[in-house]
Amino acid sequence: MSATVPAPSLAPPGTRTAVRLVQVRKTYPNGLGETEALRSVSVALQPGSFTAVMGASGSGKSTFLNCAAGLDTPTSGQVVIGDQDLTVLSADALTQFRRRHVGFVFQAYNLVGHLTVAENVQLPLMLDGRRPDPAWQDHLMHAVGLAGMEDRRPGQLSGGQAQRVAIARALITRPAVVFADEPTGALDSRTGDQILDLLRSAAQSLGQTLVLVTHDARVAAVADQVLFLDDGRVSGHLQAPTVEQIAAVLLTAGR
Ligand SMILES: Nc1ncnc2c1ncn2[C@@H]1O[C@H](COP(=O)(O)OP(=O)(O)OP(=O)(O)O)[C@@H](O)[C@H]1O
Ligand SMILES: [Mg+2]
Repeated sequence: MSATVPAPSLAPPGTRTAVRLVQVRKTYPNGLGETEALRSVSVALQPGSFTAVMGASGSGKSTFLNCAAGLDTPTSGQVVIGDQDLTVLSADALTQFRRRHVGFVFQAYNLVGHLTVAENVQLPLMLDGRRPDPAWQDHLMHAVGLAGMEDRRPGQLSGGQAQRVAIARALITRPAVVFADEPTGALDSRTGDQILDLLRSAAQSLGQTLVLVTHDARVAAVADQVLFLDDGRVSGHLQAPTVEQIAAVLLTAGR
């Protein structure tokens, strides 16, 4: 695996990083002992970069994303977004920081059923005591193809439409970093492609850093770099990956 290295610093030393994990460990109790979901993961991502995260089921991808996004707290180690070390923040300060600077797209959409589409999109602002910018919200609703559906409830949407709402919700605060955990996993490939284009073009136009978990080598090949996880460790990475290179790494990993 000549194109991969064991512990990548994907941003050159001395440059600013958008997301930095330093020796992050995460263990979960599991009855008898502990599951080591992340074992000393160190990664540095450049501002504006698009990173795909790949690995077998249970390799730690969601744990990595949740720790990097401040949704979960590492057992030890440091997570830094921009200049802010998340691991020194109180729970309230972390929540506030996340609402202002981080967007998250969940695999299962996580929309609030009794709120309308528009209210779901505005939720991160409302929870932070801020008012939506109507022009920006309008722009987003058009960009995700949901203009005219503002008053619907999530139960009246297809999977693709629900995920578009989730993307608009993740972008409404213009976050510096957007994390997406298999955002197209439940969608057919055409809808999935559209959702990915949407995320990528939004990230590009806003200069956002995008980190996306995917099982799809085709999807990962669009990223600037791919990070491979195996049993809680970074097992390799590829810069400017091709589908063939990604497939080769996945094959070597026995998948
Ligand atoms: N809340 C939790 N409590 C206990 N163990 C957990 C918890 N979350 C994850 N784990 C364990 O940590 C390991 C990594 O899980 P994680 O969800 O990060 O994997 P993943 O790579 O996202 O898998 P998948 O592709 O199936 O989504 C697994 O062994 C999992 O069982
Ligand atoms: Mg997962």
